[in-house]
Amino acid sequence: MIITLIGGTGDIGEGLALRWAHDTDHEIRIGSRDPQKGIDSAAKYESELSQRGKERTVLGGGNSEMTEGADIIVLSVPPYYIVDTIKSIESAISPTSIIVSPAVGLKRSEAGNFYSSPPPSSRSVTEYAADASPDGVPLIGAYHTLPAHRLSNLDDPLNFDTLVVGDDASAKQIVIEISNEINGLRAIDAGALENSAEVEGITPTLINISKSNKDLKDLGVEFK
Ligand SMILES: NC(=O)c1ccc[n+]([C@@H]2O[C@H](COP(=O)([O-])OP(=O)(O)OC[C@H]3O[C@@H](n4cnc5c(N)ncnc54)[C@H](OP(=O)(O)O)[C@@H]3O)[C@@H](O)[C@H]2O)c1
Repeated sequence: MIITLIGGTGDIGEGLALRWAHDTDHEIRIGSRDPQKGIDSAAKYESELSQRGKERTVLGGGNSEMTEGADIIVLSVPPYYIVDTIKSIESAISPTSIIVSPAVGLKRSEAGNFYSSPPPSSRSVTEYAADASPDGVPLIGAYHTLPAHRLSNLDDPLNFDTLVVGDDASAKQIVIEISNEINGLRAIDAGALENSAEVEGITPTLINISKSNKDLKDLGVEFK
């Protein structure tokens, strides 16, 4: 499969790109608003993999260019730019693609605590992204609770779960399968798109736990 990470130059994009390139044979592409930045990040990831004895080609370039022909398009951009980002690549999205959103809407209070924004009782960023996606192209929510800095450290065994939400059963199954191909990651079906607000709401809790407990940094979740 061709997996494109839009905004793959950033934190979660780097982690997912390194993990998929290291653990699978999928073609990994790094998109950026600035094509040269995409090329440079892809070269950096190739170099990190090479240092670990893994010779892999990672393609980099502009977001639209990297979207052409992609089977999976992961929107690894800040939540408040998700809708504009989808619009900016819309003409390059194939009708057979699956779009994946890891975006979590969160804000910080004056006291420094994190909370969901939009709040769980209203619509989630995942649902806004689904609304903005081209007709007929399924959008699946995943990776909301994965800590980017642990993903990008290939020495970290992970042992995390990721909750996957969506309304298209076969697209959701594909995202579960490609997620399970990452060593140490278990993808779990967590229901429909309308359940995505609850899933997104876990992330500010994880960050607040980290903030309050020095020995609990870069947390994820594992369901047992
Ligand atoms: N970081 C985490 O641990 C984590 C965990 C779970 C979920 N998430 C979610 O994953 C998404 C990405 O998080 P991140 O931490 O990787 O973000 P990030 O590093 O801050 O940004 C990712 C990339 O987004 C692009 N970007 C920045 N501003 C943009 C804009 N105005 N319009 C379009 N693209 C823009 C940039 O790429 P270019 O400049 O190359 O275009 C940047 O490298 C977020 O929605 C977040 O909620 C993050």
